[in-house]
Amino acid sequence: MARVFIISNRVSVPDRTARPGGLRAGGLEVALRATLKRHPCVWLGWSGEVKPQKDVRTRTLPRSGTQYIVTDLSEGDYQEYYNGFANRVLWPVLHYRLDLAEFSRRDLSGYLRVNQHFAEQLDKVLKPDDVVWVHDYHLIPLAKALRDRGHDNRIGFFLHIPFPAPEIITALPNHERLIPTLLHYDLVGFQTDGDTANFARYLANEHGFPAHIGGAHSIDGERTMKIGTFPVGIETAEFATRARRAVRSDFVQRVVNSIPGVLLIGVDRLDYSKGLTLRLEAFERFLVACPQWRRKVTLLQITPRSRSDIHEYADMERQLDTAAGRINGTYGDVDWMPVRYINRAYSRTGLAGLYRTARAGLVTPLRDGMNLVAKEFVAAQDAEDPGVLILSRFAGAAAEFGGKALLVNPYDPESVGGAIARALEMPLAERQQRHAGLYTALLRNDISEWGDKFLAALAPDGFGDAAKPDRSYRESGVTSAA
Ligand code: G6P
Repeated sequence: MARVFIISNRVSVPDRTARPGGLRAGGLEVALRATLKRHPCVWLGWSGEVKPQKDVRTRTLPRSGTQYIVTDLSEGDYQEYYNGFANRVLWPVLHYRLDLAEFSRRDLSGYLRVNQHFAEQLDKVLKPDDVVWVHDYHLIPLAKALRDRGHDNRIGFFLHIPFPAPEIITALPNHERLIPTLLHYDLVGFQTDGDTANFARYLANEHGFPAHIGGAHSIDGERTMKIGTFPVGIETAEFATRARRAVRSDFVQRVVNSIPGVLLIGVDRLDYSKGLTLRLEAFERFLVACPQWRRKVTLLQITPRSRSDIHEYADMERQLDTAAGRINGTYGDVDWMPVRYINRAYSRTGLAGLYRTARAGLVTPLRDGMNLVAKEFVAAQDAEDPGVLILSRFAGAAAEFGGKALLVNPYDPESVGGAIARALEMPLAERQQRHAGLYTALLRNDISEWGDKFLAALAPDGFGDAAKPDRSYRESGVTSAA
């Protein structure tokens, strides 16, 4: 059986995932669990450690059938590749935040250098029939770096975050140098049909690809590149069981007993794409418009810190501290804090139990590739008495959940405040009906098949009869909107 090489910036090495700042890949680890079980895999990425250049090392760690190859970053690489081009340029641009992008040529060259470094590490171990699966925006030019070294393996790329409209991506300095490197992959996958269509439009507008741009495209008359949609899901039944058990834990009971009234929950990495300041504003509008709910509802906002070396993230942390303090100071009482705002991370199990006890989940990103919190919130609910999902229309999950969630525009705090009131007052029958629809959507796209669908499409005959698209996997059939 061919080996599958998984390449991502973060790597989850079992038993080392708990190391602070170290080896962890969160959602990616869950998404790839089935692939790691079913195929001989090698997973390569950053060790999570930053070292002086002379001490940078690459190590191989064999763990239960998978080889983990982790490589350190030098201080310069960390600043230019990770904090710089990946997170100060690509992250904001791909999330439609041109105003936050800080481009520098030095960061771009650091980004290309680290991609070369990853390719060099792969070059040492890659055999011709190995399949390579590259993940996320940190590693866009990796296939080109491998092709330049003579590798013609099957190489696929999956973007976990949004791919914006061409009008946005063309504002990225040097987009014409970077984005076409995606043409060196055999398959490029996205979270939603909207992202796939945006990429297709970009190729049509900028590179004259034919008007019907979905499926397979001949590149230089030699190779074929395919484009497809592969929405990431969760292990639905496993998460539901986890939530059922967790709800009885001391941790969850302690939280429940310490909160007067009902619980609204939000769980997000501290990131400007998550729309947290506007979410707090929406909650404040709700408290103003619905004084009868004061003392009867608490917003528990769990927001672990993220990328704190980047000033936009530090600025946001200050804004959130101020907003939470203002709301609590204005509306709180000695025995009730309207907002419980916490910067710690909790275990998946603890969160599963909290989701199940919440009356509503607030998932209101300004832009998000998928958002697995939305999916986990639904999986965790008690079908007899489920909580309501309030979901941004700009989260990838909205494409699958549609109107079964309470869809909101996160830029409009007044309407989000209204959705909070509606969720809290929603009759049981409507809650059950919405939840049943959401749960069915989850089951339709369980994560256990995700990796195999991608790998089947990546195979030379992928998109043929052997890998017929199903509802969670669609070949794009996009017509150029040029
Ligand atoms: C998003 C990205 C991942 C990234 C994660 C955490 O989900 O798609 O690639 O790993 O955020 O961000 P961090 O910078 O801590 O790896």
